[in-house]
Amino acid sequence: MAKLEIKIYPDPALRKKSRQVARVGDAERKLAYDMIETMRFANGVGLAAPQVGVSKRIIVVEDAESDSRIALTLINPKITHKKGKVKFCEGCLSLPGVSSDVVRPEFITVEALNLDGNTLKINADGLFARIIQHEADHLDGIMFIDKIGFLKRKKIIKQFGAKVCMKF
Ligand code: NI
Repeated sequence: MAKLEIKIYPDPALRKKSRQVARVGDAERKLAYDMIETMRFANGVGLAAPQVGVSKRIIVVEDAESDSRIALTLINPKITHKKGKVKFCEGCLSLPGVSSDVVRPEFITVEALNLDGNTLKINADGLFARIIQHEADHLDGIMFIDKIGFLKRKKIIKQFGAKVCMKF
């Protein structure tokens, strides 16, 4: 396994729509293992391939509510059902140091391929549903700051800019 470099906002890789994976092979499996290592090293609970500069519809998510640490890989994830609405604080490995409350559906059903190329169907709620939605958004170039009010977004971007820019 190898640790990958995480792209930081406003890297253009984060705004591209990722390509569907036609066949799950060794390249996808290696990418997923490297993404899990990268996510854990960065203390994240989810990571999407565009965040490591790969334009493929692959996400890894930590099942944060299970006792043992299990990371799940979802390939070509598609959210087929959404229900409810809930507010929860989100951050992003590509936007270090900032966070905001984001409103999203509370319950989801997601269909995806696993690393063996088999179809999975998962009903999720709570933090797990939240992580899957956040990561699936990355595959369409969407970040959590796109889901909050204009003024809040402006404030976050300004805060973030202040951390990455040198002042002189
Ligand atoms: Ni993120």
